[in-house]
Amino acid sequence: MASILQCMACGRQYPINSVMYVCDSCQGLLDVQHDLEAIRRTYPRETFDKRLGSLDRPYNSGVWRFKELVNPDVPDDLIVSFPEGNTNLYAVPRLAKWAGVDRMHLKHEGENPTGSFKDRGMTGGVTQARVLGMSRVACASTGNTSASLAAYAAFSGLEGIVFFQNQHVAMGKLAQSVAYNATAIRIDADFDKNLELVRQVSQELGIYVLNSVNPFRLEGQKTIIFEILQQLRWNVPDWIVVPGGNLGNSSAFGKGLSELYQLGWIDKMPRVAIIQAEGASPLYEAYLRGFDHLEPQKADTIATAIKIGNPVNYPKAVRTIRTTNGVVERVTDQEIMDAKALIDAHGIGCEPASACSLAGVKKLVGRGVIGSGESVVGILTGHVLKDPEAVIGYHADTLPNITGNYANHLYEAGPSVEELARILQRDRDLMPA
Ligand code: F0G
Repeated sequence: MASILQCMACGRQYPINSVMYVCDSCQGLLDVQHDLEAIRRTYPRETFDKRLGSLDRPYNSGVWRFKELVNPDVPDDLIVSFPEGNTNLYAVPRLAKWAGVDRMHLKHEGENPTGSFKDRGMTGGVTQARVLGMSRVACASTGNTSASLAAYAAFSGLEGIVFFQNQHVAMGKLAQSVAYNATAIRIDADFDKNLELVRQVSQELGIYVLNSVNPFRLEGQKTIIFEILQQLRWNVPDWIVVPGGNLGNSSAFGKGLSELYQLGWIDKMPRVAIIQAEGASPLYEAYLRGFDHLEPQKADTIATAIKIGNPVNYPKAVRTIRTTNGVVERVTDQEIMDAKALIDAHGIGCEPASACSLAGVKKLVGRGVIGSGESVVGILTGHVLKDPEAVIGYHADTLPNITGNYANHLYEAGPSVEELARILQRDRDLMPA
């Protein structure tokens, strides 16, 4: 089943195993294009449902269960998998009520092996690096991509190289990259500049770039959508709500949904809502202007994962919004941290950027865009322990310009029954909303 690389702008095609990220002629972004007609004829949807629960590689992975739609021709022994995916989809009626909808699920991608959705893309990308015979892989990162790259590179015996900003990277993520033995470099430049640098350096030194400009990353990430639909028994929700930074995930979602629709596995398209942080919302600004062009911003938000001002996947994210009749919204840091506190207080937990999903649903319901009777799936992109400083800062009310509206006080007590009893006898609401 031959797949190819195809430029999304001019349609020019390249062999699937080319080391390239953008079109040679027009610099457009590349898609991995599969022979959907052949897949439709050969693999009914049930093939993929039957693989659920498999103990055998590669189908025990929530990515490679859909191998024919990810990278059909890759030999199984080259696949680098922990395995990833198979994350939970939680029904959250109390959070739904807070946001103003009757039915909401949260898909927790923080339950992946390194604690973020990036593992789904990274298994695709590092596997392709092995197909291509590359010995070094690199990325610029706000922290999660680097943690994931470091782990997958280490696991498969490749050198992982990661570029970070020398500030504003959450401690859990930094620790992972160092622990997983990557060549980790802190640079006095923001994510957008570091992405430029990693592309230049990699070109010069023959290193494979594994940022989401790499189309094989997006093939892995789109399986979030496939898995959600399997978990919902292929009942399509009205909305899928996802945080947007470099816009790889939202781009992958649109591609995955189009493929499912073309295959006839779903009979309607859910609408995709991309939620950005107010201080890093170039897609939102462009959306308001009818997507005339992307105006890069100097990004700033407490959700450091999405502190991105010049998202490389902009054209693909626009395609997602157009093909799914989607919307773009933005939320303040205060809204993000309050929504996060509620998700955390539910025992599910997530990192700040992830909470854009819940904050975004509430805002879109408030604006009358999402109807209270519509069904919603929100994506939680990263684990609560990725950014412990944000958690403690919020609950201690020490974050600049953020109020701990749902703060859970951390008590101090001496070793005495009286002191403990005084604390335990106070009134307490369990769910702060
Ligand atoms: N949520 C989390 C937790 C992230 O780490 C990221 C991106 C996003 C959302 C946004 O996803 O870029 O596909 O729109 N983190 C990247 C990184 C940029 O380097 O880890 P996107």
